[in-house]
Amino acid sequence: MDTLLLKTSAEDIELAASFIKEGGVVGMPTETVYGLAANALDEEAVKRIFEAKGRPSDNPLIVHIADFDDIEKFSLVSKVPSVARLLAEKFWPAPLTIIMPKSENVPSITTGGLSTVAVRLPADINARRLIKASGCPLAAPSANISGSPSPTTAMHVYNDMKGKIPAIVDGGECKVGLESTVVSIEDEVVTVLRPGGVTVEDLKAVYDKVEVADAVLNKLKEGETALSPGMKYKHYSPKARVCLVRGSDKAFRDFVNKQNAEATVALCYKEDEAFINIPKISMGSKADLEAQAHNLFASLRMVDELEGIKTAFVRCPSQEGLGMAVLNRLIRAAGFEVIDLD
Ligand code: TXA
Ligand code: MG
Repeated sequence: MDTLLLKTSAEDIELAASFIKEGGVVGMPTETVYGLAANALDEEAVKRIFEAKGRPSDNPLIVHIADFDDIEKFSLVSKVPSVARLLAEKFWPAPLTIIMPKSENVPSITTGGLSTVAVRLPADINARRLIKASGCPLAAPSANISGSPSPTTAMHVYNDMKGKIPAIVDGGECKVGLESTVVSIEDEVVTVLRPGGVTVEDLKAVYDKVEVADAVLNKLKEGETALSPGMKYKHYSPKARVCLVRGSDKAFRDFVNKQNAEATVALCYKEDEAFINIPKISMGSKADLEAQAHNLFASLRMVDELEGIKTAFVRCPSQEGLGMAVLNRLIRAAGFEVIDLD
């Protein structure tokens, strides 16, 4: 199959929507990362998403809508919990995914067999145009091959999906650069299952009962069930070994400078660059968490583009604000391998 690279003109959005109406899968830009979108209510279409991605079938998909009223229009949930309504009112459209009890209308393949459904109203205008033109809610996981870094440009999607899907809508670079915050609500407590563009601090500013699931920054214990199935898989990894390194500016620079320059790359801050003598990729300024989030996946993809690189040593980001989301992705890319220098 040929994979068309479309733009965001009205004609191109209509063409992309026509593939979706036929049960096809289309690369969709969003403010977080690119998604692999298909009709969330069509079992056959959703099956094609899992096939294109090579994704385990117990890992549920996020259902994307263009308006809050789509929840009722497409009867996606059995009930909108009052806390979910509050979060939706305060944040949507946003990189925030809210898990709610699912209705029978949503096929079980979409939710990986769970009794809940994850719903998101994206901020990206082109994502919403595509949903509207398709006339259905769109199930969309990140548009990478399962396990590799998420795509933040249409070319990333093309590299992973060419020949497997009919079209990709090129909406430019994703603004946030990492996936949405996923929250569940139980007994009026909001639990962050995956940190993302809406930070824990943002949530706490509008609601007082907010917790962070243990698995966000820690490895699941033997036999522990994942609250969110996606948390149990190794994720976001380039082919090279990724290792997180925690330590002061000087300790990090000294450590990487001792490594073999032929086979090692340092993922560092802009301020580190002048002090590092091996190949390096800057993720942005130390204090600029938005830049670090924005550059994260492109930096991980770049590691494999450098000749001969076997290991990437990555500076451990701050845990504050958006840093928690960056750390959550990096610690999985590293398979929880962390070196403490101090
Ligand atoms: O920003 C995003 O969320 C992007 C864009 C395309 O919108 N999508 C995305 O989808 O990251 P995906 O499939 O790569 O990640 C969805 C995460 C997975 O960790 C999955 O396990 C979790 O959300 N999830 C989905 N439905 C769930 C449910 N009903 N209960 C618990 N976790 C759920
Ligand atoms: Mg993903």
